[in-house]
Amino acid sequence: MARKKIIAGNWKMNMTPSEAVALVETLKPLVATEDADVVFCVPAIDIVPVVEAVKGSNIQVGAENMYFEEKGAYTGEISPNMLVDAGVKYVILGHSERRGYFGETDADINKKMKKAFEHGLTPIMCCGESLEQREQGVTMDFIRQQVKIGFQGLTADQAKEAVIAYEPIWAIGTGKTATTEQAQEVCGEIRKCIAEIYDEATAEAIRIQYGGSVNAATAPELFAQPDIDGGLVGGAALKPDFGKIVNYK
Ligand code: G3P
Repeated sequence: MARKKIIAGNWKMNMTPSEAVALVETLKPLVATEDADVVFCVPAIDIVPVVEAVKGSNIQVGAENMYFEEKGAYTGEISPNMLVDAGVKYVILGHSERRGYFGETDADINKKMKKAFEHGLTPIMCCGESLEQREQGVTMDFIRQQVKIGFQGLTADQAKEAVIAYEPIWAIGTGKTATTEQAQEVCGEIRKCIAEIYDEATAEAIRIQYGGSVNAATAPELFAQPDIDGGLVGGAALKPDFGKIVNYK
């Protein structure tokens, strides 16, 4: 089946609100396309001005994280209902930087996945192994575990709507993109894992991105792979070259 590509920028902790609006104005004409869903996942403080700035364009806005409660004594956290009210459509969950720096567990991410769907947000759930795990040959087992726990309790219809981003930790921010073969192999295994949890139709419908030093040179071959439905892009999403990644064909 033909799955529409989804190409998302993860801005991480970059761009003040005024810088964010300026970047949107620069990128808007460069990322215009009918062939892919284009998403800017931005820091919480930038969400409201960026939602305003992308109005009338093909760009949708995502958050980089959210909490799994609607309100309460969770200083510094952002709730799903706050994101929806602000016009956010997607939310990155379980990025390796949140797992690594902030101790997020697969169980935390599963709670957030369920809460995202309760509020009509589309989750982009990240998974990926460390260099040590790859060298030990445990990549597939590790990622299958992340997917199984992350998707626990979600329906097949919810899984079909979800996005999974395979981001090998050793490729993030290093300039060392995974090879096309490595990326396709793991994304294919993730799709097989979804088929085992649900069924073939769900596995065919779900969209799987690759992330980890994606750039204008590597995007075309990566995105042409049978089990890679786009990318989750960090550093390159903050530059005009992001337009070349979005229009990779
Ligand atoms: O979420 C995407 C990010 O982790 C990839 O970063 O800079 O390697 O494209 P980068």
